[in-house]
Amino acid sequence: MRILGISGSPRKDEISGVAKLVKAVLEASGCPYDYVSLHGKKIFGCIACLGCVKDNVCKVEDDLTPLREKIVAADAYVIGAPNYFTGLNALTHAFFERWFQFRHRECGLLWGKLAVAVGVGGTGGQPPADDIEKFFSYSFIETVAKVTAQGAASCYSCGFGENCKVGIPHFLHGEGVKITPETIPDVAKQPETMAAAAAAGKLLGDRLREGEERMAVAQRMIKAMQKKFKSSA
Ligand SMILES: Cc1cc2nc3c(=O)[nH]c(=O)nc-3n(C[C@H](O)[C@H](O)[C@H](O)COP(=O)(O)O)c2cc1C
Repeated sequence: MRILGISGSPRKDEISGVAKLVKAVLEASGCPYDYVSLHGKKIFGCIACLGCVKDNVCKVEDDLTPLREKIVAADAYVIGAPNYFTGLNALTHAFFERWFQFRHRECGLLWGKLAVAVGVGGTGGQPPADDIEKFFSYSFIETVAKVTAQGAASCYSCGFGENCKVGIPHFLHGEGVKITPETIPDVAKQPETMAAAAAAGKLLGDRLREGEERMAVAQRMIKAMQKKFKSSA
């Protein structure tokens, strides 16, 4: 049972809350895993060329191309993204748009797999975690847990954070804020966040070890999606 972990943050792992949480979930799963950061990667969004319709292989060649095999081979996913403007950041969105290649002609390559969605934002990470769950559901992948947290907004390191009246440090701490290691949010220093990451990883590992049939999971997800589309029609 191998898990693929992806951090969709464009920031280096050392300063990325998403990377820290994705790794914490992977570690807690007790399963073997591969980890990939999208930092520095050039990934286009889907260009709707429909070149993937016949064989479920995207014809756009970029840094997503070598990841396709890992996506297909994985039994489960832990994927995280930062909150940009109350949603998924563009890099992770582009990454997921290219999963359109797995949508055609009842291609079951990803169906019934399990996943954890991770979201981190300067104020909170719920929007990107919800977006990731939505992308998973289009491939009939079950999101077993979502982990969300407050990370360090760029305003803490831009150089103007103590004086800028519209920056996150002012919004969160008010006038006269001092930027110190204590005031910079760090997911690794939030016991509740790290406990949630550990619980999500354990749940994912336990569900994988139970060995439920992928088609049974997929059927539940397909039914849920049908219901969702019918109710919004
Ligand atoms: C372009 C941009 C837009 C952002 N928009 C939001 C936002 O709407 N809400 C929020 O909570 N944080 C926002 N942030 C802050 C990031 O979500 C925050 O820095 C987060 O910790 C990034 O995750 P990372 O540390 O893994 O890179 C934004 C950051 C950038 C660069």
